[in-house]
Amino acid sequence: MSLKTRHAHPQVQRDWHILSATFQRYRRGNDVSIDARTVGATFVELQRRLGDLVPDFELLCKAEIVFQINQLKKSRNVVILGHNYMEPTLYHGVADFVGDSLELSRIAAQSTADIIVFCGVRFMAETAKILSPTKTVLLPSLEAGCSLASSISAEDIRELRRRYPGVPVVTYVNTYAEVKAESDACCTSSNAAAVVESFNAPAVIFLPDEFLAGNVARETGRRILFPVADASDISTNDPDLDYTIVGWRGRCEVHEQFTVDDIRRSRADFPDVAVLAHPECAPDVVAAADFSGSTSAMIRHVRESGAKRFLLLTECSMGDNICAENPGKEMLRLCSVRCPHMKTITLEDTLASLERGIHEIEVPTEIAAKARNALDYMLRIGRSSVRSEVTATSAN
Ligand code: 13P
Ligand code: SF4
Repeated sequence: MSLKTRHAHPQVQRDWHILSATFQRYRRGNDVSIDARTVGATFVELQRRLGDLVPDFELLCKAEIVFQINQLKKSRNVVILGHNYMEPTLYHGVADFVGDSLELSRIAAQSTADIIVFCGVRFMAETAKILSPTKTVLLPSLEAGCSLASSISAEDIRELRRRYPGVPVVTYVNTYAEVKAESDACCTSSNAAAVVESFNAPAVIFLPDEFLAGNVARETGRRILFPVADASDISTNDPDLDYTIVGWRGRCEVHEQFTVDDIRRSRADFPDVAVLAHPECAPDVVAAADFSGSTSAMIRHVRESGAKRFLLLTECSMGDNICAENPGKEMLRLCSVRCPHMKTITLEDTLASLERGIHEIEVPTEIAAKARNALDYMLRIGRSSVRSEVTATSAN
């Protein structure tokens, strides 16, 4: 097996690995699941796509499940949407479309399938249901939550509106339907700054990711304030709200783990490394990186960049998925940093989901109608026009 894995530095407390694939086997387009007639042919195709990264014995076990899923898909009118964080055999073997939150929302809205199986987390499946209410939307695991989505409730937003009357509310798509329903607009990491600026408002409430809010404030030149949870702290006590983002203290439990020190140590060991940070990372981490963007923007950046070695500050399965398509490029990453929610979506659960129609996602009609307005706003804005490259600071 030609997978190269080695520890990068003995003093590094966390487990650095370098992954690279040797041969250009194929490029995962946005609509290419495996169409093979037998389990054997499925194994051969999986090996062609992932042979550098996944051992043969694992591919042999998984080929059978991949084959069954792809057969079932054909016999029903099913589309499988896979977030970029899905494990490699799911991402490269059964997903009909892969992408970031914005891309998958668009595909869900346009799909002509009767059934959408969402290989991602619950808020994504809810979004698909709201955008495609007549379709059956299935989520393979009910454990697929999100620390950001569970950090805020609809009542929290109503309280903020009472405190800051007339201030528009933008919520990150990583929230549940009832929170979206209380919002003026949703956004994803692809278009957060553009959605905030589209209101042309002196102040915007931006929820619930404290770090994404900080990064948007930095990009747009706004200052940020976090209201304290104290009933006496009413809006009249807040300082002047001109050109302000009002944030919330939610965090992604994956991206909050990355530090500027991780970047500094990687640059010390590998001076040629290109550092890519997801905008859910802390603002000082994003400022110390060479590029920041959504998961799909990071994938495109690796494809198009002339660099040979990358540090990916995001969920670690994405490193495998990128590696399979970019032979000769090395991914340096912290292998232990997996999203505990995304990883509950397995091939086995995806098969069970298709076979038994579980777990069907429903959103109450009234909430769905209000949340739809906020999502439609997000889809109209598209990708952010705000520059995503950041200037490397003195991290090295
Ligand atoms: P994007 O794929 O939209 O960048 O989102 C990343 C993420 O954390 C989803 O939960
Ligand atoms: Fe939520 Fe973070 Fe996991 Fe994405 S990676 S689903 S933001 S906890």
